[in-house]
Amino acid sequence: AFQVKIASSGAVYDIPADQTVVHALQEHGIEILTSCEQGVCGTCITRVLQGECDHRDLYFTDEEKAANDQFTPCCSRAKSPLLVLDL
Ligand code: FES
Repeated sequence: AFQVKIASSGAVYDIPADQTVVHALQEHGIEILTSCEQGVCGTCITRVLQGECDHRDLYFTDEEKAANDQFTPCCSRAKSPLLVLDL
């Protein structure tokens, strides 16, 4: 499990191991637009301001993944304890 911080509100939420970032945030009323929910389409792309992404999508190139400034919250997770999202 890790935590996600919403930059605009400062709120921090737990992301349980068995839930995606999209679904965990949805339970707190934060809606991220999705389509494939499998890391293929790029609809859910969200900017990452802090923390290390655990990219699990098939959308970004290796270079984009290495840049660590955006991720696909429908399937990707965090390697660091906290991810700060530009939401
Ligand atoms: Fe398609 Fe996340 S919803 S990549």
